[in-house]
Amino acid sequence: MPLVPSYIASLRPYEPGRSPEEVKRRYGLARVVKLASNENPLGPSPKAMEAMRASLGGLQLYPDGGLALREVLAKRFLVRVENVIAGSGSEGIMANIIRTFLCDGDEVLTTEAAFIGFQVLARSRGVRYRTAPYREWRYDLAALAREINENTKIVYLANPNNPTGTIFTRDEFEEFYRHVPERVLIILDEAYFEYAMDNPDYPDSMRYRYDNVITLRTFSKAYGLAGARIGYGFAHGELIGNLLKVKLPFEPATAAEAAGIAALEDDEFLRRTLELNAAGRRFLTEALGELGYEVAPSNANFVMIVMAGEQHAARLTDALLGRGIIVRPLGAFGLPQCLRISTGTREDNELLVEEMRRMHASVGTARGG
Ligand SMILES: Cc1ncc(COP(=O)(O)O)c(C=O)c1O
Repeated sequence: MPLVPSYIASLRPYEPGRSPEEVKRRYGLARVVKLASNENPLGPSPKAMEAMRASLGGLQLYPDGGLALREVLAKRFLVRVENVIAGSGSEGIMANIIRTFLCDGDEVLTTEAAFIGFQVLARSRGVRYRTAPYREWRYDLAALAREINENTKIVYLANPNNPTGTIFTRDEFEEFYRHVPERVLIILDEAYFEYAMDNPDYPDSMRYRYDNVITLRTFSKAYGLAGARIGYGFAHGELIGNLLKVKLPFEPATAAEAAGIAALEDDEFLRRTLELNAAGRRFLTEALGELGYEVAPSNANFVMIVMAGEQHAARLTDALLGRGIIVRPLGAFGLPQCLRISTGTREDNELLVEEMRRMHASVGTARGG
């Protein structure tokens, strides 16, 4: 008997994007720009950093399981504490959902090339993992609705989606929801919520209050706290109650929780983040489009470009690395012909476009090139 089940043995370990230090060393560069992991180019929320520092004096004590943050979120979103969960990043909560709700014989359903974190978690549970293809780089909710069968337990929807950056609209979601039986749990992953919330077509899931929907959000992106590992979720009290039975009791960490609570008050930081991102997203979409790339319409803090093939994408990734710019090739997601580029500071974005323009002439990496 092998020690490890075959569905674990066949997984590939998660490969994080390269770190700036590694790239500096390897290429002998003084400056490296990382546009690979959808991190906040402004750094962390200053209020969050201050609160985190202030919390350090209490590190000898076990955390409160996220209660203080849950209370703040409940007040802010006009729900009960029983409807809120906090965890080590939204992925921490996603891991709990997988452990809590899936039984052998259940199936999960999502789009092809879904967020890699979800792919890894679902596949590591050994249940059947089914997908429907994208339609013009957007979730095809009508196709997903048709794929739901008697074994479907979880439908995973990221909105905005990673790695495409696209959204499905309010009308599309409402129509989709009419076809989902109550026994199916919908995970609505809104890690990039803040970047899309001003789009009138965007369906903010907190408006719905459906009993079989769990909303996941994070402080990793718009609040710049990816390294702290703090996220949260909203759902019907019964769902949250079951998740709390399974959750590691001392997750999230005290300092991460303090950072999250303070970040929610940092309106000024959020405003600067969203302004910078909107300008960067516009700039990258237009400039890369002018270079001949197909750019998926993004509502997040990154853009995805589509290239002629895998080799083109690999060549461009390597060429950019050599120039000190780290972008994300999407082979591991299942889109080897695509690259994802996070928005950076204005200087970062301009540098990227300048380098791509320069390379474009020599390597011809756009769709037809
Ligand atoms: C769609 C999506 N969901 C969840 C996450 C994970 O967020 P967290 O850092 O809160 O675990 C990410 C991070 O890249 C993401 O892109």
